[in-house]
Amino acid sequence: MSIELVKELLNFIEKSPSCFHVAANMAEILEKSGFQRLNERDAWNLKAGGKYFTLRNGSSLAAFTVPQKEMEGFRILASHSDSPTFRIKENPEMELEKHFVRLNVEKYGGMLMGTWFDRPLSVAGRVLVQEGEHIVSRLVDVDRDLALIPSLAIHMNRKANDGYAYNAQTDMMPLIGGGEKGRWKEIAAKSAGVSPEQILGFDLFLYNRMKGSIWGADREFYSSSRLDDQACAFASMKGFQNSSNDRFSMVHCVFDNEEVGSQTRQGAASTFLKDLLERIMISLHMNGEEYYRKLASSFMISADNAHSVHPNQPDKSDVSNRTYLNGGIVLKYSANQKYCTDGATASFVKTLCRQAGINCQVFFNRSDMAGGSTLGNISSGQVSVPAADIGLPQLAMHSSYETAGVKDLEEMVKLAGTFFSSDLIMEA
Ligand code: CO
Repeated sequence: MSIELVKELLNFIEKSPSCFHVAANMAEILEKSGFQRLNERDAWNLKAGGKYFTLRNGSSLAAFTVPQKEMEGFRILASHSDSPTFRIKENPEMELEKHFVRLNVEKYGGMLMGTWFDRPLSVAGRVLVQEGEHIVSRLVDVDRDLALIPSLAIHMNRKANDGYAYNAQTDMMPLIGGGEKGRWKEIAAKSAGVSPEQILGFDLFLYNRMKGSIWGADREFYSSSRLDDQACAFASMKGFQNSSNDRFSMVHCVFDNEEVGSQTRQGAASTFLKDLLERIMISLHMNGEEYYRKLASSFMISADNAHSVHPNQPDKSDVSNRTYLNGGIVLKYSANQKYCTDGATASFVKTLCRQAGINCQVFFNRSDMAGGSTLGNISSGQVSVPAADIGLPQLAMHSSYETAGVKDLEEMVKLAGTFFSSDLIMEA
């Protein structure tokens, strides 16, 4: 079961080389299982027992159910669709001495740059074209080995193994061809099924072509690109599909732009989720007070990957809170509230874990390390409901090839399902 689930995830990730593909592939799965697509520009006529989803910018997605009985509140599970990568700039082609053509790219998010060298890369995202009175998106996935960022030979930098500061403008430019420039737009256009002249704008990114792998003495680990945060987004989606709740509206929410701070029209800091919940209320003819009462009975879980103890660097983790691959889901704390978990919301999540027999580990940063951040506190600043941060333990976060534990994915799916179908209320 665990292995089958991981295979399904790796397959999903392979088909989702960009945030736009994550949203589009989830939309397709939802439509197939009877969810109705809503456009933010249309009037919404929601019905009791109905199942819906909507997208913003083609890169953030929110799916929700309307309960059969009188609604008590929301069960919101939020994750993110984007991963650190390199974004292709306008006019990207750079010719070198008539022998090389490279693309001019810039960093999207905080990746481990060294992990992008010497491996086949390709290009995915979207292009925008005019169709009558509309500007529309067309997905792009070149889906073949197209580019590569070659390392400099050790003979040309003998100090390469003593630590090297990568320059994002000079070291990271992917090579896409020999000869002369002029090919790249044609390649992107062909993938989108349009002509190069039709392309008005684009949001295109590099991606690692290395396939996901399940490995280890007992096949207990798996590795792939974009585990952060497609693993949690996928687990949320699975739990959502397998659950029902006749008193709470279940909301599966996947935001773009977490890796660059969430402050965009479709990010967790936007009004996307707030607008969605308000529109559900308006469509169900609830008044303002009823809306605030529902919110007060709601709960949000933010699911974004967490750090396992590193086998070669065990001292980098907290002293008394140790998280490991295959140790279960991770509850993340931070006193400065980079993670929104507190004693009360942790108790809520631990109760769900207890009910369903899910292993739960606890993560803190070392007190002398700042650590990362995620979307939980950002989103709960927009929609003020009690919230906790959880994640799957992983190694090599923000590498172009990350590693996680096979057993944990199943635990996360189980927790998502338990949460969505739960009637638990937090009084604090
Ligand atoms: Co993340």
